[in-house]
Amino acid sequence: MSRIILSIVICFVLDVLADFPTDPKPCKYGDSDCIVKVMNDLISNKATIGDRALNLVKLDPLPVTKMNIKQGAESPVNIDLTFTDNNVYGISSMKFRKVKGFGKSIDKKHELLLNAGKLSLAGPYKIKGKVLILPISGNGESNMTLVNCDMIVSFTGIPVEKDGETYMEATNLKLSTKPERLYYHFSNLFNGDKALGDNMNTFLNDNWEAIFLEVQQSMQSAFAEIFQTIISNVFSKYPYAKFFEE
Ligand SMILES: *[C@@H]1O[C@H](CO)[C@@H](O)[C@H](O)[C@H]1NC(C)=O
Repeated sequence: MSRIILSIVICFVLDVLADFPTDPKPCKYGDSDCIVKVMNDLISNKATIGDRALNLVKLDPLPVTKMNIKQGAESPVNIDLTFTDNNVYGISSMKFRKVKGFGKSIDKKHELLLNAGKLSLAGPYKIKGKVLILPISGNGESNMTLVNCDMIVSFTGIPVEKDGETYMEATNLKLSTKPERLYYHFSNLFNGDKALGDNMNTFLNDNWEAIFLEVQQSMQSAFAEIFQTIISNVFSKYPYAKFFEE
């Protein structure tokens, strides 16, 4: 008997907690300055721990279980590169600059413009192929770091009806990145041959931009998938209208 009452009380408490958080205060629909401020506070306070109240996963570090970049022979960067159990570090220092959309109608294009001071993808890699005519092969730890990177995240909202309420789901998410600089480091290239490995790392960094332009598309679409899931999760927690006020 007492157990039943206890569980009813707990359910009630959880239900109350599941109300839309009172902090941050909702912004007006489409109010870029307000939304930017809320998102920047959220990123700097919650990125390293996540926020259950908003269904927001921990973003820094962000685990990337598997990412494969395969460029065909027609590309000057003809590689098969796999990252396994990597992490992205640095999302907590991202700064939102501007948002577009997030108005009353969900089924529009929504856009986030932001800058990342330093973003690194680090962890185990495996590579085989050719980079600008030079053969490359290796298997070890890598670190690719983007510095001062402007990013645009855009997606289309789809209204989803659930229990008489309308939620937003993100679809067709696109990511574009424009780093000022990119640093590569691949350890243990060429079976650990240090001279060859050092030369290759220098070569990659000297040609960072040409190489990035070739692999950018595949990397962006891999991350677009991750971001689309994160955004959809946040907006699946409450009806869209709860995030804003008139
Ligand atoms: C990756 O490299 C950058 C600099 O190039 C460094 O600041 C960062 O600490 C490295 N990250 C990891 C996880 O090794």
